[in-house]
Amino acid sequence: MPVPPNPSDLNRLDQGVDPAASPAPGREALPPVADDGVPHRRRPRYQGKYPRRFEQKYKEHRPELYPETIGKVIASGKTPAGSHRPIMVDEVLQALVVRPGMAGVDCTLGWGGHAEAFLKYLSPGGRLIGLDADPLQLPRTVERLRAAGYEEEVFAAFRSNFAGLPSVLGKANLTSVDFVFADLGVSSMQLDNPARGFSFKTDGPLDMRMNPGKPVTAADLLRTQPAEVLAAVFRDNADEPHAATLAQGLAGREFPTTSKLAKAIDQLLGRTNAEEREACKRRVFQALRIAVNQEFTALETLLRALPLFLAPGGRAAFLTFHSGEDRRVKQAFLAGSRAGIYSSIAPEVVRPSAAEVGANPRAKPAKLRWAVRASA
Ligand SMILES: C[S@@+](CC[C@H](N)C(=O)[O-])C[C@H]1O[C@@H](n2cnc3c(N)ncnc32)[C@H](O)[C@@H]1O
Repeated sequence: MPVPPNPSDLNRLDQGVDPAASPAPGREALPPVADDGVPHRRRPRYQGKYPRRFEQKYKEHRPELYPETIGKVIASGKTPAGSHRPIMVDEVLQALVVRPGMAGVDCTLGWGGHAEAFLKYLSPGGRLIGLDADPLQLPRTVERLRAAGYEEEVFAAFRSNFAGLPSVLGKANLTSVDFVFADLGVSSMQLDNPARGFSFKTDGPLDMRMNPGKPVTAADLLRTQPAEVLAAVFRDNADEPHAATLAQGLAGREFPTTSKLAKAIDQLLGRTNAEEREACKRRVFQALRIAVNQEFTALETLLRALPLFLAPGGRAAFLTFHSGEDRRVKQAFLAGSRAGIYSSIAPEVVRPSAAEVGANPRAKPAKLRWAVRASA
């Protein structure tokens, strides 16, 4: 399929250009940072008292310089721009029982919040391998964790889909590990950045690739796939009740931006109430994202390979965010338990506490499942 030129900040990041330092035409610059690390005080221009757009939130993009702002954003239940708040960290640590000296894998490094917690518990003497498919975000996270003091011997990062974990472990000279963790889906950095095109809340190119090196965007799928294929995508990836109508109305059309697609969905739903239209857009965007990144295939591949490199007594934990993910993890763990591959599995799904959901609404749909590799 042809790759449409992507005029967004994404390409600029790909070329090593930080849009914060040198903005795309029409975008606002972040204040330059002087040699002594103190930013110039010139306030970027934006309408109103506070910056609203992702790229204008220059304080949130510099958490080390503006901890007070970050504290206020978090206290208001939001996620600071350019970061991600790790979910159910205590529950994940309990499930994985990370101890000093252990070797483990974080399959979905993201911002590195869970990774940082693992690194604290596996030191001294342990080792964490971190993977992420996203070549734009990964270097920032590696830099952040290096700045926190985790050198290559204790933390090694790989730009890889987790479907390729066995080969990554080979590169890291590991044949088995004591724990494996995956926190599925996209990070807040990806979701909130309009240039990545994951969300209908802000306008951006309709992209949705976690790895922009891959050839097919969400816009490509809508333009090239027939209605029957799109209907199956909407149904299978998001249980979309209006799948057939939406697929008929969207197939073969050009949607260069997220807002154009959102508007078309609104029009196709006609007199449906506002709440349902909102939910429908969320489901269609989720379904397209899963298809663009072939997320279920990657998850199934990882779940199949897991017993091969989980050491006897080793533990796996998966955080899922919708039924398609949770069903696959649940079925793989149940089948493994029946076959004697896992000695125990989570008897039921673990959910975030009310306090966590109150503090971070993005935790609400999270479901945690764990499994322990049998010794034999
Ligand atoms: C929910 S975020 C993880 C957040 C992370 N736990 C943290 O504390 O910051 C999911 C991350 O996994 C990555 N990802 C999703 N599917 C992947 C796959 N199949 N292979 C590798 N990385 C993947 C995404 O690019 C994203 O950065």
